[in-house]
Amino acid sequence: MSKVLVTGGAGFIGSNLTEELLRRGHFVRVLDDFSTGKRENLIFDEKYPSLKVIEGDIRDLDTCQKAVEGMEYVFHQGALPSVQRSVEDPETSNAVNVGGTLNILLAARGKGVKRVIYASSSSVYGDTPTLPKHEEMPTNPLSPYALQKYVGEHYCRLFYQLYGLETISLRYFNIFGPKQDPNSLYSAVIPKFIDALVQDRPPVIFGDGEQSRDFTYIENVVQANLLAMSAEHLHGEAINIACGKRISLNQLLNVLKEILGSKIFPLYQEPRKGDVKHSLADIRKGKEIVGYEPTVGVEIGLKKTAEFFSKARILLKDK
Ligand SMILES: NC(=O)c1ccc[n+]([C@@H]2O[C@H](COP(=O)([O-])OP(=O)(O)OC[C@H]3O[C@@H](n4cnc5c(N)ncnc54)[C@H](O)[C@@H]3O)[C@@H](O)[C@H]2O)c1
Repeated sequence: MSKVLVTGGAGFIGSNLTEELLRRGHFVRVLDDFSTGKRENLIFDEKYPSLKVIEGDIRDLDTCQKAVEGMEYVFHQGALPSVQRSVEDPETSNAVNVGGTLNILLAARGKGVKRVIYASSSSVYGDTPTLPKHEEMPTNPLSPYALQKYVGEHYCRLFYQLYGLETISLRYFNIFGPKQDPNSLYSAVIPKFIDALVQDRPPVIFGDGEQSRDFTYIENVVQANLLAMSAEHLHGEAINIACGKRISLNQLLNVLKEILGSKIFPLYQEPRKGDVKHSLADIRKGKEIVGYEPTVGVEIGLKKTAEFFSKARILLKDK
């Protein structure tokens, strides 16, 4: 059993990771300011009394130092994770995504923390034409968010090289699954599609829908984090976390329509600034370094996600 800190633990990925860490018997502390995360994502807290939640901001070094105190592993998921938001307000997202990451690393350095596992993003690759994207190719961030995630990766690498703090950056590729927020202006496409379909509203697609992504079910990401925790030695590397397959938004919507028995047509709108056209990961480095291999494919993941959201809707209606 280890003592671990999950920043952003009330968010979509952080709360799924927190629950699995608790299920495995670890002592978990969550640091979150609940700006995009929700308390109800941590509803399992009653089952696990070892869970401690600190409400605080990673932009504050003192808060980070208190949160890191006594922890062995830090899973740094906390961020403002939207491309669009970073285009509209680069300053705030920089303060959280770069400043907050630096604070977490500073707080962890020399405090007995064995390892910081950092949530990076496939957006660092940008619109480079080469597919699949592999970790040794040049990056080309197209938005402030992508650049901020990339800076975070370099800070992680530098903290290993300069101060010997073990780090790894997990470049997540379009993660989806239960607890992902469908209701914000900045929500990811899958929960938005499901939400529209179950309410009989036309889902909105920006562009022609032929853009493709390596959509990755949350269980694979949780697994990747656990593998990064138990790997032998890490030296600040960045690895792709994905399925290694891509699917277009039009195809994705068709699969969801079939699962949910919907016949509704999408509404196509202008493409958004900063969005990349295609994304697909080479996942061989992750396998080599931490033994990562996806275990849940897109279709099964979509079924599990649609089930979760349909159930949540029924519960909401019953209230
Ligand atoms: N979801 C994806 O497809 C995806 C893809 C690539 C990378 N990521 C990265 O994974 C991580 C988790 O993303 P998510 O999809 O779960 O998003 P999310 O918005 O659900 O979770 C982010 C969490 O960070 C918290 N947070 C934000 N600002 C904070 C601050 N100043 N102080 C403390 N906590 C703060 C939020 O309240 C939230 O709980 C992020 O670092 C994101 O950049 C996600």
